[in-house]
Amino acid sequence: MSTTHARRARPVVAIDGPAGAGKSTVAREVARSLGYVLVDTGALYRAVALAAQLRGVSRDDRQAVENMCVALVRDGSLSMEAGAGAAPVVKIDAIARTDELRTPDISQGASVVSRYPLVREALLDLQRSFGRDGGVVLEGRDIGTVVFPDAEVKFFLTATDEERARRRHGELVERGDHSTFDSVLAEVRERDARDAARDVAPMRPADDAILLDSSRLSIDEVVAIITERARASVRAE
Ligand code: DC
Repeated sequence: MSTTHARRARPVVAIDGPAGAGKSTVAREVARSLGYVLVDTGALYRAVALAAQLRGVSRDDRQAVENMCVALVRDGSLSMEAGAGAAPVVKIDAIARTDELRTPDISQGASVVSRYPLVREALLDLQRSFGRDGGVVLEGRDIGTVVFPDAEVKFFLTATDEERARRRHGELVERGDHSTFDSVLAEVRERDARDAARDVAPMRPADDAILLDSSRLSIDEVVAIITERARASVRAE
């Protein structure tokens, strides 16, 4: 897509990819090392799934979820404060939600509600508002294709299904969740298939994204590659 605005002094760094590819850790470290704002866009879709649960709205009822989401954003009942290199604080009805957003059930719920066109549209401006002036790292599924097609730096991070499930399982166990490896593997595969197959903004690498397979690289190596690319984009000014 052509860039219609003046180049930003500091880049927008887009990191997309499937669940468990290491996006969150990598995005956090990249943001920290560059001193950029970190935006975890998945947290917004998770918040919509959680809000539906809190309000007794079935996540399978597209119209009801869309109406709820549009109202949440319009009334400022859903908000996200993105910090420099820190996890965002997501609030629903002015109450901060953190651990509740990270359960396997809400992961699936987020993937379900993120298929709904008006949900995606309602969250678009919010995501763009963080990145307009650059100096930001956004992680998600459609940052390089839809949210910031003009991002100066675009990566698509992948890893094998087993490696991604292994990481996700490790995180859940650490939090005291008793999911089995096999259930996490099935969950990761189900979620990816849904995220990649949806009609609106499906998960896919942008044509100009750099593909990185993180199963063969350490987190530090991935962070170094992305950070270097972001620095190079500033030097290219
Ligand atoms: O990155 P995550 O696991 O927190 O994302 C949860 C779900 O939200 C994911 O399965 C699909 C959806 N999502 C999306 O559709 N677009 C994004 N930019 C980020 C997340």
